[in-house]
Amino acid sequence: MYGGGYVSEEQRKQMQFDDDPEKLAAFEARIDRGEKIEPQDWMPKEYRKQLIRMIEQHAHSEIIGALPEGTWITRAPGFKRKMAIMAKVQDEIGHAQLLYAAAETLGKTREQMLNDLISGKSKYSNVFNYPAKTWSDVAVIGFLIDAAAIVNQTLNAKGSYGPYCRALERICYEEAFHLKQGHDAFVSLATGSKRMREELQEALNRWWRPIIHFFGPSDKQSVHSDKLMKWKVKMASNDDMRNQYLDMYVPRIRELDLTIPDPELRKDPDTGRWVFGDPNWDEFYEVIKGNGPCNEERLAVRRWAEENGTWVRQALQPKSGKYITPLA
Ligand code: COA
Repeated sequence: MYGGGYVSEEQRKQMQFDDDPEKLAAFEARIDRGEKIEPQDWMPKEYRKQLIRMIEQHAHSEIIGALPEGTWITRAPGFKRKMAIMAKVQDEIGHAQLLYAAAETLGKTREQMLNDLISGKSKYSNVFNYPAKTWSDVAVIGFLIDAAAIVNQTLNAKGSYGPYCRALERICYEEAFHLKQGHDAFVSLATGSKRMREELQEALNRWWRPIIHFFGPSDKQSVHSDKLMKWKVKMASNDDMRNQYLDMYVPRIRELDLTIPDPELRKDPDTGRWVFGDPNWDEFYEVIKGNGPCNEERLAVRRWAEENGTWVRQALQPKSGKYITPLA
């Protein structure tokens, strides 16, 4: 496990503040005016706690998210696709670096975050606990899951916490390129041979439910949305993000003559909202509790990487013994 880490004395002192009502009112007024909150600014404890939870989960999703596609680097069809998927996987790890750095500004060290990931305490996105069985699964991830991430991240990039928004802005530029490579792979399969189309349809059937889950439980079931939206950490509710995504991507899937595996899916003309069949929320909760098809395998890889990287971290220790974080 990691040890050490660095939180400045000033940050520690700030974490001791109680949520004084005057400070809270001034903080909320700043948020209402659309100002960014920076690490040295006063912030309510709950805002700090929520940001750490969310940014940390997001960072974990990036490093774990690199794994399903990473297994396809050696098997991607052709040299160009291999190069593209390799670059994409590297980008995802870079996104994790940016996000861990953003979360560290709030006082939780990278070492604590990684310890919480590998011990199973912290969550990460449900979608990365499913296997990428075929190249078509990689195309679905690259097109439809990256698209879902972009919907979430372009909205949240306009949020209130400066370091997170700046990280998201940079991430979105790269994700937009990932989406292009995913779309290209997806369209090649959809317009390819009968066998390619069948394999793609099967992959879409496997991924559709996890994609619906990706945006989180319905607004009625969401635990954190109200608070996060009030403080402009989340810029839209789970259902609104999901609806926006369906607006954009259902037509793109259908124009390729693929079938979305939900006979009840339709847009209600009166409300302008998508109606869909029961996505089996029990499955979602089981997966995020650690009981999905690949949770154990994913964490085992991270544990392996952590154990085998110990010597690198030790080599980075200066004589003083003070640990240097990779971005220090
Ligand atoms: N995968 C795993 N867990 C999820 C999830 C998902 N797709 N969606 C929701 N959850 C978890 C939440 O983390 C929360 O659990 P916790 O209280 O133990 O932390 C619980 O389900 C209740 O959900 P909710 O109250 O709606 O959580 P939220 O307000 O944080 O909204 C997200 C969930 C994913 C929309 C939000 O956290 C978010 O926008 N995160 C940043 C983007 C991100 O992480 N993307 C993933 C990979 S690109």
